[in-house]
Amino acid sequence: MFVLLVAAMAALGGLLFGYDTGVISGAILFIRHDFDLPTSAQAIVVSIVLIGAMLGALLAGGAADRYGRRPTLLAAGIVFAIGAIGSAFAPAVTLLILARFIVGFGIGLCSVVSPLYVSEVAPREHRGALVSLYQFAITVGILAAYLVDLWLAPEANWRSMLGLAVVPAIVFIVGMLAMPETPRWLFANGRADAGRAVLARSNDAAHIEAAVFEIRSHLEVGASGSAGELLSPALRTPMIVAIGLAVLQQITGINTVIYYGPQIFLLAGAGSDHASILATTLVGIVNVVLTVVAIIFIDRWGRKPLLYLGSGGMALALIALAAAFGIPALAGARAPIALGSLMLYVGCFAFSLGPIVWLLISEVFPLRVRGRGMSIATLANWAANFAVSLVFLGMIAVLGTPVTFLIYAALCIATMVFTAWIVPETKGRELETISNRPAA
Ligand code: BGC
Repeated sequence: MFVLLVAAMAALGGLLFGYDTGVISGAILFIRHDFDLPTSAQAIVVSIVLIGAMLGALLAGGAADRYGRRPTLLAAGIVFAIGAIGSAFAPAVTLLILARFIVGFGIGLCSVVSPLYVSEVAPREHRGALVSLYQFAITVGILAAYLVDLWLAPEANWRSMLGLAVVPAIVFIVGMLAMPETPRWLFANGRADAGRAVLARSNDAAHIEAAVFEIRSHLEVGASGSAGELLSPALRTPMIVAIGLAVLQQITGINTVIYYGPQIFLLAGAGSDHASILATTLVGIVNVVLTVVAIIFIDRWGRKPLLYLGSGGMALALIALAAAFGIPALAGARAPIALGSLMLYVGCFAFSLGPIVWLLISEVFPLRVRGRGMSIATLANWAANFAVSLVFLGMIAVLGTPVTFLIYAALCIATMVFTAWIVPETKGRELETISNRPAA
């Protein structure tokens, strides 16, 4: 029960993450009108969140290692609330950009520390499912944002679209106040009694001593790690796994659909703006539902089988999408094929690269550098996200739609190769044994 509560709180961080990244796709239509923005300024309003998130992710690991996971999450909640209120009331576009940057900073903090917090509090047999809950919350946040956009679009009320994020932010702050620090951080910082007390709330008696022993023996291996240690040969494999997966999650194209879904459907011949937003919402529902599959199977089947299945399915879906755009005979059926293949694509992402990347990033590093390692990998994730969001529309203009999607398909296949090459199976292993022996 306690573990579920803890996970639900940290997963609320995912909800904020999802809502705040998803909401802009609809809101921007009205913001650009109100402030009379040229395209370049619109691009800044949309992507400044990703810059803020990069900075947040960069600083999150150091803060989480130094001040603790809980204070960092609390700070993230406060940052979110300030950013949401600032966005809702911004009188000028410069202040709106500043507020969105602050929101992005909160997202960046959360995207490192939420999965870290959950993975350190969860007992190992449920760790995968509990971290997947975080991804589930991201998808629910995205869907909620799409629905709020649909709801408020008739009144063009972008201020409420952005401002509503303050509600979950406040729930998050209040909830985190009642939550404990993670046992692993407490042990690492000389507060063994407090650590043991938290372990006792989430483990049965038989497992507590084993967990204490593993954390302790692991801590003896080295004192607090420095950022430089991340470059040491011993950490080469975890670094390649974490950064590689973080980047692959983005360069296989997920956010072209999440952020530009309506545009893709319009290109495919959707009848109206409304139809294209509705189709995007449908994709958002698939994203939520299929994440549940990951929650059910991730600790039973393991991470690697789901990664193969998911990236394989994503590749097939993208090839179908490219065919719909590239083969003239299919032109008549373009809209339904686009809808079907994007649903397949997002569904396959939802049970594989979506949750598993966050999970493995939180699993592969040894404790003493876990916060910093996750920061770097998450920073790489946001940077890749930014790059893809920036070049996507340009790729379509220069290379054409079929070639663009075929490139993403090739990167999905590269993900399968990468998984076979170096990703360890971490199902059912104690966190400490994964980082000591990161073998496949
Ligand atoms: C990714 C986000 C993406 C979301 C979609 C997350 O795991 O990191 O970039 O928007 O999944 O559900």
